[in-house]
Amino acid sequence: MSTPGIPHRPEGTQDLLPDQLAAWSGLESAARQVFHRYGYQEVRPPLFENTALFHKSTGEATDIVEKEMFTVPPRGEGESYTFRPEFTPGVIRLLIENQLLKQKGFWKVWYWGPAFRYERPQKGRYRQFHQFGVEAVGSHDPLLDVETIVVFAEILKGVGVTDYAIRINSMGDAKCRGAYRDALKAFIEPNLASYCENCRRRFERNVFRVLDCKVPADRARNERAPAMIDHLCVECGDHFSAVQRGLKEAGLAFDVDKRIVRGLDYYTRTVYEFSSARLGAQDALGGGGRYDTLVGQMGGPDAGAVGFSAGCERVILAMEAAGVKPSAAATADFFAVAADDAARPEVFRAAQAFRAAGLSGDLDYEGRSVKAQMRSANRSGARYAVLIGAEERAQGRVRLKKMDGGEESVVPLDEAVRILKGANP
Ligand code: HAM
Repeated sequence: MSTPGIPHRPEGTQDLLPDQLAAWSGLESAARQVFHRYGYQEVRPPLFENTALFHKSTGEATDIVEKEMFTVPPRGEGESYTFRPEFTPGVIRLLIENQLLKQKGFWKVWYWGPAFRYERPQKGRYRQFHQFGVEAVGSHDPLLDVETIVVFAEILKGVGVTDYAIRINSMGDAKCRGAYRDALKAFIEPNLASYCENCRRRFERNVFRVLDCKVPADRARNERAPAMIDHLCVECGDHFSAVQRGLKEAGLAFDVDKRIVRGLDYYTRTVYEFSSARLGAQDALGGGGRYDTLVGQMGGPDAGAVGFSAGCERVILAMEAAGVKPSAAATADFFAVAADDAARPEVFRAAQAFRAAGLSGDLDYEGRSVKAQMRSANRSGARYAVLIGAEERAQGRVRLKKMDGGEESVVPLDEAVRILKGANP
């Protein structure tokens, strides 16, 4: 809710406050650990790319490119830029442009950061959101598809989210998709006039996206539509069987769902989604799949590739729904208190000495009374208050007060550092 006269954040964005960020750090460190364990390396493409990149890769007939892009029009002779609606195109561009795929043919990379889609905001759906994910480039091995799914499952396990479903499907490849496209068109065409306007347009541009329509009447009609999975060629069928065998061996429960087509144009063969019934309408925790032709289409080598992206906000919502309590912010070792104004520079110096020794803590910058400073010490969870007044200054010492027991001692600063370090659990 906005208050008149006070600046407010743009619709569909969120401010992340210190209390919320404990869960975010927990998720990020769980993800980093899993990426490391599975041999993925971090990459950081820029926040925005040339708009044409998304037209060519995410796809012209997708909702993202048709209506959700945050685009900055060209200035003068310059390029048009778009804030990334997803990471995959930028990551593949990064691998190609930096010649990484020439150095070696196989890369496993991960990423984390904000993404932007001009969608209608609702719970779990934002205009600025965050994704983490992986792209594994340079192999057609179905076990790699399995590995990316396992990586996502391991991250969810790492943050205590276990209540979700994995659904998989196969989109086939260029070879078998032609015959399926014809079958799907033949099914839809007689009733095309009854489909929504979006579907009629998609029928021409990318008929598979008709299956993604959310309009109830179209959904009902599509129930009986032929499925890609029933039109797979032998190679794609074998690949899909191998993925399913691998997932079973990895001990992951999953369902084959013929209706998953995914909202992006680049997929071939395996596609998958992780969803949680606890999230409401926006139930997808993340999704991904194989895209064996994209790297070549973008000017790179002819390389098989597979990856996924997860929605951080959705995973955090699932953590909350699962009652996962992220560990509270680390408590401080000390709070340095000035017994009078003259002691403030000395208090600052003492705090710096503690921090230089690796201890954490703070001091007052608001000129508050000793009583108020002691309240801050309490609130910060500090184990010790370090007091300096006229007496301590005269002696060149500091007064250590244990916050739990109230025990006090007056010691030289280096002795105080030793005591706090020794007491550091
Ligand atoms: P995607 O399904 O478009 O796939 O997005 C992945 C996840 O990002 C979604 O499942 C959801 O959790 C989250 N997400 C998407 N839009 C929003 C939004 N407006 N607000 C909050 N969360 C959102 C991709 O982005 C592909 N790049 C995945 C991939 C990687 N495929 C191959 N490699």
